[in-house]
Amino acid sequence: MYNNLINQALTHKISKVPVWFLRQAGRHLPEYFNIRRKEENFIDFCLNEDLITQTSKLPLKYYNLNAVIVFSDILMIPWAMKRNVRFCKNVGPTLDPMIPGETVIVQDVSIINKLDPLKNSITRLRKELPISTCLIGFAGAPWTLACYMIEGKSSKDFINTRKALWSSPKWFMKLIETLIVYVSQKLEMQANAGANVLMIFDSWSHMIPNNFFKDCAITPIAKIIEILRSKKIYTPVIGLPFRAGPCIIDYSYESLVDCVALDWSMELKWATKNINKEIAIQGNLDPASLVPDKSNNLEENTLNILDLMKDRKFIFNVGHGLTPECKIANVKKVINIVRSYER
Ligand code: CP3
Repeated sequence: MYNNLINQALTHKISKVPVWFLRQAGRHLPEYFNIRRKEENFIDFCLNEDLITQTSKLPLKYYNLNAVIVFSDILMIPWAMKRNVRFCKNVGPTLDPMIPGETVIVQDVSIINKLDPLKNSITRLRKELPISTCLIGFAGAPWTLACYMIEGKSSKDFINTRKALWSSPKWFMKLIETLIVYVSQKLEMQANAGANVLMIFDSWSHMIPNNFFKDCAITPIAKIIEILRSKKIYTPVIGLPFRAGPCIIDYSYESLVDCVALDWSMELKWATKNINKEIAIQGNLDPASLVPDKSNNLEENTLNILDLMKDRKFIFNVGHGLTPECKIANVKKVINIVRSYER
């Protein structure tokens, strides 16, 4: 039996509902900026063992949470693949864009040792955190990483990535296959270092042309999980296929995840009816509801989610990351509602 409620809720329907928040360590906490100032360059920040450890633990100073997610970024894999990842203020991430069919895809080169600071901070965090706090490691899904690597930046429609899929499908799938290997290595490393749960973020799954959804969003995750299991790593995996809509049904049956994270657009009655009942659900409060000083219906919305998930293996969370504008008082209020909920 696991010592923390998150791992318990992933395998059983338990009477208490555990809670944590996507992007809980980021910029809505004032202290984050004090720590962040110590390392101007965000990549260097993500490679600084002391700073990652400190930042990961930061939300526990404010909130009674059931999990800590290790502070890092999904773009550390493209960085390790030498895609020249930079984070410029007010611009977001920038990478050297890959040219479909032309840019050589680096394969069979070990990159995971470049992420040793991440490994070391997980080992440290697992020693320093209470045993009842679940430690979560993560990676970006191959599709979402490919989006950033081809586009070279964030985009409204990832048009170059979608064009690449249609014009150079063989090249594109080679990139996905390469990322499957690197993502599974990164997750394996985090599990071996002490992560109790692994999460895979497919933040741009809503950009996948429908007929490619299985090849780009479901099969890669299944392959990653098969690789982990073949290495005797049984750490549960939470998948977030962001705004995948009805494609989430097949995802829940075929991707082999132990838990599907629902985004804030997901209709919960429909979700409970259609999503694989064998797996757990995480979600899905709109993080925007945590922004207004007088947030309307915050209590009602939180209770509504809890009621609809009453019969499921369930972890309370937001339906996407907390934004810098989210108010600490609202986050606290939601946690208190979840804590006092009887099911
Ligand atoms: O609690 C946490 O904040 C956990 C750490 C974490 C970060 N990024 C820190 C971060 C996690 C889990 C991520 C995942 C991530 N990174 C995703 C998937 C989740 C999602 O939100 O969809 C994605 C798509 C990224 C890529 C990324 N990293 C972007 C688009 C940006 C820029 C965001 C912006 O508005 O500037 C980042 C940078 C980043 N990653 C920041 C943080 C706290 C901001 C860096 C800073 O200015 O300090």
